[in-house]
Amino acid sequence: MTASADILENRLRVGHRNMWHPVLPAHFVTSSPRSIFRLGFRIVLWRDEENRVIALEDHCPHRGAPLSQGTVMDDKIACPYHGVQVDGTGVAVSVPGSPGCRLEGMRATRSFPVQERAGAIFLFVSEKPNTEPSELILPSELESDEYSHFLCYTEWGGDYRYVYDNVMDPMHGTFLHHHSHSMAEGSTQANFKVREIDNGFVFEKDGQRGVNFDWTEFVDTGAHWLKLEIPYPKTGGPGGNFMIIGSYTPMQDGWTAVFHWRARKVSGWQRDAWRFLYKNRLEYRHWQVLEQDRVLIEDYQPGANLREILYQHDMGLVRLRRYFKQKAEKQLVDAGLV
Ligand code: FES
Ligand SMILES: [Fe+2]
Repeated sequence: MTASADILENRLRVGHRNMWHPVLPAHFVTSSPRSIFRLGFRIVLWRDEENRVIALEDHCPHRGAPLSQGTVMDDKIACPYHGVQVDGTGVAVSVPGSPGCRLEGMRATRSFPVQERAGAIFLFVSEKPNTEPSELILPSELESDEYSHFLCYTEWGGDYRYVYDNVMDPMHGTFLHHHSHSMAEGSTQANFKVREIDNGFVFEKDGQRGVNFDWTEFVDTGAHWLKLEIPYPKTGGPGGNFMIIGSYTPMQDGWTAVFHWRARKVSGWQRDAWRFLYKNRLEYRHWQVLEQDRVLIEDYQPGANLREILYQHDMGLVRLRRYFKQKAEKQLVDAGLV
């Protein structure tokens, strides 16, 4: 059986299930409750007294009030409306207005498994509540001593799929970013090919590598990742290419939480030199480049990608869209939702 176009689109709009998604930079979450819209849910997050992050659906099991307006009590939160207390696993542990009522002891609030990795909060969003999470494997560069990275987080007013399309399109570097500090070199024409790798594929220029934005890699390791490298100009200081690792999470109303880890293979004093240079010179330039993407994507009409005439350079994003569709469709079928 296959899912109807509407059901499939509704699912793709809110994102895939049974996987991990980055939702916020880690330092955005404190002991005060924070409410966010991600992946079709409103979610409240806070840190308990041991600094662990708790994530619950921001919906009181009594009458749906936002728990985030309530009071944190270590690993519990008390709803402001009638005081129902929900613990970190989503159980209503106390109903002060009516002790012993049937809500007491019910696990009626969805809780999300949390991992704090590489400076970000990842949530596991399952098809059905209380599902055991799968393993989350990060690209090795994010947890390797040989690399150094900065997490750069932003929110864009465009569908997350446009952001994946944008990064799975190396050729836009040569045009949209031609006047930037790092993408003026190389040919303005290219032939692309797709190379299979474990859990993903590489979309790359035939015959040009290490000159401009020449390839993008997609991998699904329990989360979705895009990876690319752009050579640094001499003014970028010592170390390897400028590596960007991205993951993009749907928010609400077509907005996207954009995560880019900017990484470089660099160690010893050179690592310190790069980190200093990044903060003082390079970060500003990188943001200028990213602004060009943001301005373009935010001005896209919803559904503009329903009328396209694609050519060979779009093979990578066609492949990625197909992967996302097939994965979503399989999840809907497996869950008996179609
Ligand atoms: S709505 Fe939360 S306690 Fe009543
Ligand atoms: Fe770009």
